[in-house]
Amino acid sequence: MEIKVTRASVLKEKPDQNTLGFGSYFSDHMFVMDWNEAEGWHNAQITPYAPIPMDPASMVLHYAQETFEGLKAYKNDGKIFLFRPEMNAQRLMKSNERLCMAQLEEELFVEAVEAIVSYEEDWIPTNEGTSLYIRPFCFATEVGVGVHPSKSYKFIIVLSPVGAYYPEGVNPVKIYVEDEYVRAVVGGTGFAKCGGNYAASIAAQVKAEKLGYTQVLWLDGVHRKYVEEVGTMNAMFLIDDEIVTAPLEGSVLPGVTRDSCIAILKEWGYTISERHLCIDDLMEYAQNGRLKEAFGTGTAAVISPIGELNYKGNIQIINEFKIGTLTQRIYDELTNIQWGNIEDTRNWRREVK
Ligand code: COI
Repeated sequence: MEIKVTRASVLKEKPDQNTLGFGSYFSDHMFVMDWNEAEGWHNAQITPYAPIPMDPASMVLHYAQETFEGLKAYKNDGKIFLFRPEMNAQRLMKSNERLCMAQLEEELFVEAVEAIVSYEEDWIPTNEGTSLYIRPFCFATEVGVGVHPSKSYKFIIVLSPVGAYYPEGVNPVKIYVEDEYVRAVVGGTGFAKCGGNYAASIAAQVKAEKLGYTQVLWLDGVHRKYVEEVGTMNAMFLIDDEIVTAPLEGSVLPGVTRDSCIAILKEWGYTISERHLCIDDLMEYAQNGRLKEAFGTGTAAVISPIGELNYKGNIQIINEFKIGTLTQRIYDELTNIQWGNIEDTRNWRREVK
């Protein structure tokens, strides 16, 4: 792909790596590309990070044809690594298909990510626990308010140097089990990474925060009974010697970190079951000590221990509100692969040249 580069005349001051937080700073440049029926993807550019002019009747603003991805770049010893970017590309294709949006081939996605990351390599933080969060997104730009698939799209990648997603860092988070709102049902868009899913989740998030919780645990939308996922991550539960996570049946996001953890845990000899888990059973296992550990998995959240569950006022503390041995082990394994600290036997790391 030919990429036109326009350099920013003034570069920003880099933020302090000790106080990055999540998603508050953005690098100097972004990747932008357009799609229309006649030309397909064209006009690939690296341009100064700036507002995008939009017609008020752009279809995304009305009917939310928007999809996105999240992945990270790491810098270690002068080398830049991505973690399984082809999985993000494949998921974006599935999301775009569900929302009837233009397709973006895997090679093009990865090439665009590599191009902007290597152009902005000075923005990759190197302090422990930091990384450059990569946010590719795609949206409908056709002007009009009739409801139909847009005939034009933009694909943009912005970059944000980040620390931990939660203020808790790798300390346990408190999770509120949501029993009023639902996130997704089979046949809907739960498996797609689209802004609309997150818009619909905010009311529950606000409610949980008011009650002193970090995130919500969603139950299935039909029976309001089976555990699905946490606000910004998939969830795993160590019950006796079995690790349980919700199956991918259409309502749960197929997380890259989820998939990686399943593979690692299987290699380590654990029994990992992708199966329905009833919330009443989970609370009972927590109460009688059979629930040994619980953790969330996600690109932004990495591995996040769950230290408390509140379901309809029944509050259960997990593993004395401490990070568990398995949770710590999987966190170390995953981050060491991502950072290039250990051998990559699974061929997941991709060096950006
Ligand atoms: C990610 O983990 O990359 C996500 O997209 C979650 C997010 C909405 C912060």
